[in-house]
Amino acid sequence: MKRVLIAFLVLAALSPTVFAGGSSQRGGGGQPEIGVAIYKFDDTFMSYTRNAIEQNAQGKAVVTTVDSQNAQPTQNDQVDQFITKKMKAIAINPVDRTAAGAIIDKAKAGNVPVVFFNREPFADDMQKWDKVYYVGAKAEESGTMQGEIVAEYWKANPGADKNGDGVIQYIMLKGEPGHQDAELRTEFSIKAVQGAGLKVQLLAEDTAMWDRPRAVEKMDAFWARFGDQIEVVFCNNDDMALGVIESLRKVGFFSGGKFLPVVGVDATAPALQALAEGSLLGTVLNDAQNQGKATFDISYALATGVSPANAGWNITDGKYVWVPYQKVTRDNYRNFQ
Ligand code: GAL
Ligand code: CA
Repeated sequence: MKRVLIAFLVLAALSPTVFAGGSSQRGGGGQPEIGVAIYKFDDTFMSYTRNAIEQNAQGKAVVTTVDSQNAQPTQNDQVDQFITKKMKAIAINPVDRTAAGAIIDKAKAGNVPVVFFNREPFADDMQKWDKVYYVGAKAEESGTMQGEIVAEYWKANPGADKNGDGVIQYIMLKGEPGHQDAELRTEFSIKAVQGAGLKVQLLAEDTAMWDRPRAVEKMDAFWARFGDQIEVVFCNNDDMALGVIESLRKVGFFSGGKFLPVVGVDATAPALQALAEGSLLGTVLNDAQNQGKATFDISYALATGVSPANAGWNITDGKYVWVPYQKVTRDNYRNFQ
């Protein structure tokens, strides 16, 4: 018995897909197997989504989740293994959204339905097969909400215009270039500010790849270069906003009444904490609970031969589930904690 167990553990340790850097929920007999690949586990928002998928799978499906470690070739191998293992459906958070087309071709050849989430494939790729779905949120909506939060603050606080020129001098810290959320949040946040009748001047824009430590470094450099010329900092997500706040604290902000408006997106737990403390001006809820639930529900419907139209979600254009964003400010953050 003991030997069998050891042999099993050795095999488990060697099996790359199910066990290395991944987690697998072993369910009872008869439950469909669903493979889930996350672009990288070390991403705050994706860890929320992953947990939501796994929680919703409890008692219904055997979900194998793997970490693609930010490498598309790794993810391609993982997808191959899911297909070889005849998983009933796969849910993919692509490393590189341009790789979705090749993933769809393979899935179609193996007749394994695919649900992409969080990183939206191009429309032509989505049309390649009818068993392809996407669960996400409208990136432009989050940008617009961010811009509205800033415009409202600016109008209520004349002192925010530090040099009194009637123009918002701002920094833009972007997520991964090419990611729909990075491109559209960048564009629509500023459009919303301008739409509110305000003038803007970009001081600098750079990417910190969604990452907090990189945001600290970038903001250190921006401060060294622009200092008090900076009036607002827009960040494509909360991890970067928290990095910016960390950097600004080093030069005296967020204590003794010294404030600079910084906005993010996601409404992560540490971001809500920062709102409570009064450092973060605002964020936008990127609803991981519902994105994870929709990803599971659609995958499960496909895995069990049920029409996704009957999975409890509103499906647009036959393929898309859009989960709404919500504005989060000092007035309502408690509702999200
Ligand atoms: C975005 C989210 C980011 C990051 C990214 C990963 O929707 O706002 O924080 O998780 O997805 O693709
Ligand atoms: Ca100004």
